[in-house]
Amino acid sequence: MCGIVGYIGTKNTKEILLEGLKELEYRGYDSAGIAVLQGDDFSDFKAVGKLVNLEEKTKEFITDKFAVGIGHTRWATHGKPTELNAHPHLGESSYVVHNGIIENYVELKRELQDSGITFLSQTDTEVIVHQFEKNLKTSENAFEAFQQTIQEIKGAYAVLLVTKSEPGTIFFAKYGSPMLVGINAENEKYFASSDTPLIGSCSDVNYFEDGDYGYVTADEIIIFDKDSQQKEPVFSKLSTNKLSAQKDGYRFFMEKEIYEQSTVIADTLLGRLGEDEILFDELPGDLFDGVNEIKLCACGTSYHSALSASYLFERYSKTRTSVEIASEFRYREPLMSKDTLFVVISQSGETADTLETLKMAKQAGLKTLAICNVDNSSMVRLADATILTRAGIEKGVASTKAFATQVIVFWMLSLYVAKSKNSLSSQKIAEHIALLREVPASVKVDDEMHEKLKRLSKRYLHGHGFFFIGRDIFFPLALEGALKLKEISYLHAEGYPSGEMKHGPIALADPELFTIALLPKHLHYEKAKSNVEELSARDSTICAISAEEFSKADDFIQIASHEHYMLEFFEMMVVLQLLSLEISVRLGNDVDMPRNLAKSVTVE
Ligand code: M6R
Repeated sequence: MCGIVGYIGTKNTKEILLEGLKELEYRGYDSAGIAVLQGDDFSDFKAVGKLVNLEEKTKEFITDKFAVGIGHTRWATHGKPTELNAHPHLGESSYVVHNGIIENYVELKRELQDSGITFLSQTDTEVIVHQFEKNLKTSENAFEAFQQTIQEIKGAYAVLLVTKSEPGTIFFAKYGSPMLVGINAENEKYFASSDTPLIGSCSDVNYFEDGDYGYVTADEIIIFDKDSQQKEPVFSKLSTNKLSAQKDGYRFFMEKEIYEQSTVIADTLLGRLGEDEILFDELPGDLFDGVNEIKLCACGTSYHSALSASYLFERYSKTRTSVEIASEFRYREPLMSKDTLFVVISQSGETADTLETLKMAKQAGLKTLAICNVDNSSMVRLADATILTRAGIEKGVASTKAFATQVIVFWMLSLYVAKSKNSLSSQKIAEHIALLREVPASVKVDDEMHEKLKRLSKRYLHGHGFFFIGRDIFFPLALEGALKLKEISYLHAEGYPSGEMKHGPIALADPELFTIALLPKHLHYEKAKSNVEELSARDSTICAISAEEFSKADDFIQIASHEHYMLEFFEMMVVLQLLSLEISVRLGNDVDMPRNLAKSVTVE
């Protein structure tokens, strides 16, 4: 996702900004830019694509005296990856860079346009700089104008702003998106949206808290909190290890990605939840017109999220839904009818089999939709419409946050269709929206739970196999749990519908067969429970995950008591991810790069 850097000092500002942006490359981006103020001279450069393009553009640009500079790598959300949409965004004499989403940008933009301001980009960010300059006209000074601007914007942001009216100063604000400022013995000040760009340049850093805003000059760091009370910076020593800084202190990228699910899900939801409707501004209004069936096609984890979606689409949107494994679909001469919406799901947007099925669907004249995490990827470019999952770059080969955000998008999409088909009342949709808002909290990793799973993992390192079982939408979750375990532990695991065990697999039951049972309180609890009891009676070792006490289990993992099965789904998802992780750690495997696997499978 997007990255921010900033610098105040006398060294080569251009190089410092470009080097800082390079350190943020791993987060993924599709354009980049910098703005530097030296004395009275403002210079800005932007380029689409990789940082080498920006380096090429700034080749002749020299920064050899005191300067303030800001830089940004952009992962497109509002508007395509173009130079005009790249940050920094310019007003008359100020520049801004921003991570996050300004939720009320449409209203603000309309007001600004009505007062004669011309917008150059399609971004939400550009409103910040124009709003600031509008406020500057009636304010005592630049800080007052900035403070007012921050009070007027709503949403999530990490913002840096520089202006000719206060040269030598960087204004900052943080709410919901990370940002820190670093210092060193040479009296320089560095900003960044994560530790990595500051390693080697700063000795100490202050992490801003939500609601913090203020300004930094060569001599001072002035911070105000959310209640506009001035406060002192709290500095901590900065790590010197870059790789571990990218992992934000976690042992593995997979662990970090499990922990950040709460934040990325909040990003997925941002701006898309109305009161009793889902807002997908990116979808053409007529996408579902004439659609009688939805066909979902994907591989691996994305296939599991598609399977989950089929339950939601039929239950809430009352739309016939089928799910296909892409590598099978492409060769089985499938029948495709034009009243079908063909949906591909992919973290990378580059998986060869899935991409091929998209081409087939297009050729057959079907409407197509991509649910994808990477803007501008092959699938996004090819599909008629796209919903981006906004999970940020996923480094662990075993997919975690990509799955979580895909299911969130599908849940929202099922309500979007339900609204247009009138298959759910507005009140019901509003109830679902309230539940969606609870998901970020429900996937926050509880330290006690993580500790318990660490301890429990030692009991599951052997045996002749695992069955992950669940019913309804918990069946695809069971499949996903089994896939996670297989990928990183190299132990044999299968996902199975709980009710299907007695049709064969139960023959395997003995103490060395481990059953991981998903028992949601709010969906077919009694039925699923009796399936687990059948296995317990045959001496299979049972690890049950539920909010309800379950005495027949050898191990019991208690989740919180939620009011809806989808919240149970997301909390159980985290449990399964952590359990696999801890088993893999105990077995001494490479968690982030498991043997024989690649992150993006671009060959069939
Ligand atoms: O990028 P995609 O979502 O299209 O990738 C599909 C699968 O290759 C991927 O989900 C794979 O199964 C992961 N390793 C799962 O953890």
